[in-house]
Amino acid sequence: MSAEPEYRTIGDAADVAENRGKAYQVNGVQIAVIRHEGKLYALDEFCTHADASLAFGPVKDGCVACPWHYAEFDLETGAPKSLPAVEPVNTYPIRETADGKIEVAIPG
Ligand code: FES
Repeated sequence: MSAEPEYRTIGDAADVAENRGKAYQVNGVQIAVIRHEGKLYALDEFCTHADASLAFGPVKDGCVACPWHYAEFDLETGAPKSLPAVEPVNTYPIRETADGKIEVAIPG
């Protein structure tokens, strides 16, 4: 058994602009892919407060803010940084390949 996560190609890295997000469904899981300071992050798409899409939230200082009630989530860990959300979102391993693709590893 390998501990190495299995990466899947989900799209083109050029489709996710700086400080923007994009929603994808991968392996039955809805995720938001967000680029911040040049780096890609993958987290559950839906806010743990009331299910707004984090793919459309403003991005700043290492966090994405929920577009509905502005709870902020840490892009690296998924931890909530401000109310009204109190539960974290899951985060997933993500990478950008040399030929410009996004790869993500979703368990299951
Ligand atoms: S739905 Fe995200 S903070 Fe309310």
